[in-house]
Amino acid sequence: MRRGQRVHMAKISLVVNGNPVTANIDPRTLLVQFLRENLRLTGTHVGCDTSQCGACVVHLDGKAVKSCTTLAVMADGGSVTTIEGLAPDGAPLHPMQEAFRENHGLQCGFCTPGMIMTAVDLVRRKGHDLDDHTIREELEGNLCRCTGYQNIVLSIAAGAKAMAKSDPA
Ligand code: FES
Ligand code: FES
Repeated sequence: MRRGQRVHMAKISLVVNGNPVTANIDPRTLLVQFLRENLRLTGTHVGCDTSQCGACVVHLDGKAVKSCTTLAVMADGGSVTTIEGLAPDGAPLHPMQEAFRENHGLQCGFCTPGMIMTAVDLVRRKGHDLDDHTIREELEGNLCRCTGYQNIVLSIAAGAKAMAKSDPA
């Protein structure tokens, strides 16, 4: 854009973690920027900015998306769930979060919000009885630099089963 050229703002209205949100934004704003910088929902991370690492995964209208390569205007009229929305303040952890805690599915935790949002989406699509091969294949878009993945796979299998018993989300 040339200096002095005006940016035409875009008005968006959406629901984020159950709360209605309306904002005027630069239409080039990425969904991850909007969540982190406008709404201060910093649980969604940025690891690569190029759709490779999965640290930025959130749910848009119930489906996992990489928010680093989704424009915020694409969520206009929709519903976004971030890691903060899985277990609101004061509520017990979501069963998938609890499974990661129980099974040591994280070390530094940077990849964890994206892993968990991907895992919950996976359970919704493929059910509660997930084998090792399926989980590893589905994690293709999520990178972890710490754990070696073994405990993440264990956590997701356990979390999938726990979701069947308690929280259908
Ligand atoms: Fe979005 Fe890495 S920050 S995939
Ligand atoms: Fe450190 Fe996955 S736990 S990047």
